[in-house]
Amino acid sequence: MKSFYEKKNKLPAAEKKLLNFIPVASNVFFLFQLLLSVLVFSACHPATADNNSGNNYTKADSLAYTNYKNYCAGCHGGNLDEFIGNKWEYITESSPMADLIQNGQSDIGMPAFKKTFSREETEQLAAYIEKINMGTLKPPEPGETAGANTAKTNYFVKTVVSGLDIPWGLEFLPDGSLLIADKPGKLYRFTTDEKLVEIAGLPKIWHIGQGGLLDLKLHPRFAENGWIYIAYSYVSDTKPNTGNTAIMRAKLTADKLVNSEILYKGLPATSKAHHFGCRIEFDSQGYMYFTIGDRGEQENAQKTDNSNGKTHRLTDDGKIPPDNPFVNDKHAMSSIYSYGHRNQQGIALNPLTGELWSHEHGPRGGDEINIVEKGKNYGWPDITYGINYDGTIITNETRKPGMEQPVKYYVPSIAPSGMAFVTGNLYPGWENSLLSGSLRFNYVERCEVDNGRIVFSEKILENIGRVRTIRMSPDNYIYITVENPGRVLKVIPAPISSE
Ligand code: HEC
Repeated sequence: MKSFYEKKNKLPAAEKKLLNFIPVASNVFFLFQLLLSVLVFSACHPATADNNSGNNYTKADSLAYTNYKNYCAGCHGGNLDEFIGNKWEYITESSPMADLIQNGQSDIGMPAFKKTFSREETEQLAAYIEKINMGTLKPPEPGETAGANTAKTNYFVKTVVSGLDIPWGLEFLPDGSLLIADKPGKLYRFTTDEKLVEIAGLPKIWHIGQGGLLDLKLHPRFAENGWIYIAYSYVSDTKPNTGNTAIMRAKLTADKLVNSEILYKGLPATSKAHHFGCRIEFDSQGYMYFTIGDRGEQENAQKTDNSNGKTHRLTDDGKIPPDNPFVNDKHAMSSIYSYGHRNQQGIALNPLTGELWSHEHGPRGGDEINIVEKGKNYGWPDITYGINYDGTIITNETRKPGMEQPVKYYVPSIAPSGMAFVTGNLYPGWENSLLSGSLRFNYVERCEVDNGRIVFSEKILENIGRVRTIRMSPDNYIYITVENPGRVLKVIPAPISSE
C-alpha cells in the first residue's frame, strides 16, 4: 500500500481539460493550488452519512466530512477524492496534517482552525482525509453526501490570478484578458498568457482607509467606443488631505489610459477615510449609476445638497439626465438618483426586469438589500435595523412614511460587497439568481428573486475568503475577487459525475 505521504497522482478528467483554456497564474505555487482545486459536490436532497451504504463511515468520519465541507471546501473543493496532487507539499511525518489544520500557515494562505475545532475534531478530520487519500474510505457520491446542502449545482473554484492586494474592480476585455483594479492604486491587465501588466495613466489616487482605486465598468457598447469607467478616491487640490469619490472614463491603448475625462467628483471633500462606496452600473438605456457612501457623516445621507449617502445617475458622458429627480431643486445636487444610503458596495441591474438592485453596509447589523428607484429615500440614518458599533441605539425607528423598506436586511451584519445576477445557464438551478458577497463571513449568498422579492436564499462558496467583487464574464462564468491575499477566482460548473 502506498504511503500516506505520497498523494495519488491523478487529476479529474474535467480539470485536465480545463487546464487548456483557463488562464492561471504562472507562478508554481498557484499552479499547485490549482491542481488541488476540486469539485464541490452537493446533495439534491439533504442526506446523512447513513446513506453512504457503500462506505463504512463512522460517526467521526461523517462529522469530519461535514467539517470539511463547511470549513475547507470553499478553498480546497468539496469532493475529497479530488483533494490530491503530486505530493503533499506542507505535510511531513514531523509536521503532521492535524498541526497544519490547527495552526495554519499564513505564508501559504492556509488559515488556522484552532478556534473552530477541538484537537480531537482536528485529528478526526486529518484521519478522515488520510483514509480518503489512502483509498480505505471513499468520499460520498453526489446525492449521498453527508451534511445538507441545498445548492443545486456542482462547481470547481479555480484561482485565476494571484498576487493582488484588494482586487476591487474586475472587467473582461474582448481579447480575453482581465482588467483588475487593485485598491492601493494599481490597475492591471491580466493577459491571456497570464502576465499581470500594470496599466499607466491613472490619476492621483487617495489610498486611505476605505478609499483607493475602486470599481471598473466597461461601457455597454465598449466594443464600439472603448470607454472604461473607473471609480476612485480623489484628493482635493485645494484642501490637503481631504477627498471624496470620483468617476472618470478613459480608453486603453497599449496598456495606457488615454483620452481620460473626469466625469464626477463627490462633494464635499473631507478628511474622513471611510464610506466612499463605490460601484458603477449601467442600465439598458445607457445611463450610468454609481454610489457614494455617507463619508462617515450619517446626516449627509438625508440631505440632498451633498453627494454622500446617494446613488447618482449620469449619462455616459457625464451629463445630468433631464429627468433626474432633483433637477428642479436648486439646493439639491442634480446627479442624485436616490438617497438615504449608508455605504453601497454592490449594485447590479436585474437583466430580466431592468431593476437596479443594490446592497449597503449597515452599522452593527442592518445591512440591506434594496431595489433602487428614482427619487426614493432609503431611510439612513432615520430608520435602520442596525445599532451603533458601541451598542448604543441610533434610532428605534425601522419604518417611516416616505422611506423605503429594504427587500432584505441582515442582523448581525455580513458586510456585503460585490453583487451580480447570474446570466446564462451554465449553473443548473442558479439561473437568474442574485449573488451577493460577504466580506465578513467569507461566502457568497445566492438569492432567488421573484417579483422584487427574495423568495429563497442560501450560502454558497463558504469560506472562500473576504469576498470583494462578483462579476459575470461575457461567457457567463461567475468570477469572484477575494482579499488578503488578493485573488481572482473563477467558479466552474461541473457535470454531476457520470464517471
Ligand atoms: C482560505 C482558504 C483555505 C481554507 C478555508 C482551508 N485551506 Fe487548506 N490550504 C490553503 C492553501 C492556500 C494551502 C496551500 C496551498 C495548497 O496546498 O493548496 C493549503 C494547504 C493545505 C494542506 C496542505 C496541502 C499539501 O499539499 O501539503 C492541507 C492538508 C490543508 N490545507 C487542509 C485543509 C483543511 C482540512 C481545511 C479545513 C479545515 C482547510 N485546509 C481549509 C487554503 C485554505
